[in-house]
Amino acid sequence: MTATAPTRAEHRALDATWWRQAVVYQVYPRSFADSDGDGTGDLRGITARVPHLVSLGVDAVWLSPFYPSALADGGYDVDDHRAVDPALGTLEQFDDLVAALHGAGIAVVVDIVPNHSSNRHRWFREALAAPPGSLERDRYVFVRGRGEHGELPPSDWTAVFGGPAWEPVGDGEWYLHQFAPEQPDFDWHNAEVREDFLATLRFWADRGVDGFRVDVAHSLVKDVSPPLPSAAELAADDLPDGAHRLSDRDEVHEVYRQWRAVFDEYDPPRTAVAEAWVPAHRRARYASPEGLGQAFNFDLLTSDFDASSFRRVVEENLRLAGESGTSSTWVLSNHDVVRHASRYALPDGTDVAGQARWLLSGGTDPAPDPRRGLRRARAATALLLALPGSAYLYQGEELGLPEVADLPAEALQDPTWRRTRGREKGRDGCRVPLPWTAGGPSFGFGDGGAHLPQPAWFADCAADVQDGDPTSTLSFYRAALAWRARLQGAEELEFADEPRDAPSQLVRFRRPGGWTCVTNFGTDPVPMPPGEVVLRSDGPVAPPGAGSGGTSGGVLPGETTAWLVDVR
Ligand code: BGC
Repeated sequence: MTATAPTRAEHRALDATWWRQAVVYQVYPRSFADSDGDGTGDLRGITARVPHLVSLGVDAVWLSPFYPSALADGGYDVDDHRAVDPALGTLEQFDDLVAALHGAGIAVVVDIVPNHSSNRHRWFREALAAPPGSLERDRYVFVRGRGEHGELPPSDWTAVFGGPAWEPVGDGEWYLHQFAPEQPDFDWHNAEVREDFLATLRFWADRGVDGFRVDVAHSLVKDVSPPLPSAAELAADDLPDGAHRLSDRDEVHEVYRQWRAVFDEYDPPRTAVAEAWVPAHRRARYASPEGLGQAFNFDLLTSDFDASSFRRVVEENLRLAGESGTSSTWVLSNHDVVRHASRYALPDGTDVAGQARWLLSGGTDPAPDPRRGLRRARAATALLLALPGSAYLYQGEELGLPEVADLPAEALQDPTWRRTRGREKGRDGCRVPLPWTAGGPSFGFGDGGAHLPQPAWFADCAADVQDGDPTSTLSFYRAALAWRARLQGAEELEFADEPRDAPSQLVRFRRPGGWTCVTNFGTDPVPMPPGEVVLRSDGPVAPPGAGSGGTSGGVLPGETTAWLVDVR
């Protein structure tokens, strides 16, 4: 941790590998900030909040979809991949946002949704109007149904959001939708589909976009040749790698080799990160330099708050990233999962199914322990931010926001709620518009309401309440990012051997510059390792240059992370 780090703007301009160690902040545009009081966040709202992102110290912003959409799936049902939803702004306002972020030294990553379009996309409307076997249908996955007149679905496959994955169009053909029926899957064997996405990548890259987050990257190429396997056969554990009909087929990497050629047309080359839900050993190909370059690793997000799980995940992912010549990624929250301050507030061992049941109970069963949740969330975040690789943060986690688990049924927007007939509540609870101020309409989100109801307790989490309070989660994030920036892209990490008396509750590693990160996952205090404490997840905190941060002392309390530097 040496002084005189270059500013982020200098760093990005000088170094085409900025993404390897970046802190990337995910903005879910409809819920971030609303400039026109219509209850929906928009591009000008984000531009107005660039100072917040600067004060936080992020290197890049990833924008979830802002494209025209009927919101059948929160914007991931895209009508036109090369336009801005009028409810969110205009292309000129997009350019203004990019200019504001770039001016602040913050890179811009946009979400590309190549697996499907919306059912309002011009191509899909043309496909419905055209007969079976036509060129228009060939861009999507149309298959003749079973039965004499094709009246039965081609297979019993189910969609991710519940219900069947096939929808009839009335002439014996059915189209595939792995998500909502309003999201027809493209056929990536089709040359026009491939060409069109190359044009989309160039369209945004030409506008100055620095990188792409690739939605459902593992699923683009499908094999629906007959006979189709049953859903049970498709889900079999012993399916060989690459043999699944809908996921992680080897041919998908031809697509990403083409994309890489487009990224490399630019200087610096554009970057990408794959959202690929595949086993860890299959992730490397998505993340390879010939492919997308980086892939999400959701292994911390799916881990219990447990020392041995965290250490195993970190070791495995650093090894895999090294083998494929990339850097790892780390995520604890995003727009698809229960916020980590709430996950960690639930009893140990509450898995994804348990979280879904908890949401259905309105956040009451099992009873969460919010103080413990926030304490553990801050400890896990401090560990994550100390790791080499890219750290992906989700809007609102810097406020320590918990999930809004008690949204009323009539407010829910996620297709999961309707498609599972109320058996699963869905993801709206992490997408409630942010509280910027303790007072005012929609807590400063905008001058009107908010498209998902905000609870009264949002006032306590508001950014203006936390600003300037050295014990707040916002101050903790700012200080942590400022300390992290001092590593200047260094990638080395060395685990320490733990003392015999507390081997299973600690994770401790050293980074360059004499920096140690230690997390106590247990509830009992342990002796503080040697060094000067510069940051503690249980605060108060101070950024570099403002004197010693946090309290030093003889012990590291339970469920706490400390960053220490060698005492010279
Ligand atoms: C996105 C989800 C979306 C789905 C379909 C993803 O994995 O993150 O929010 O519903 O893709 O596009």
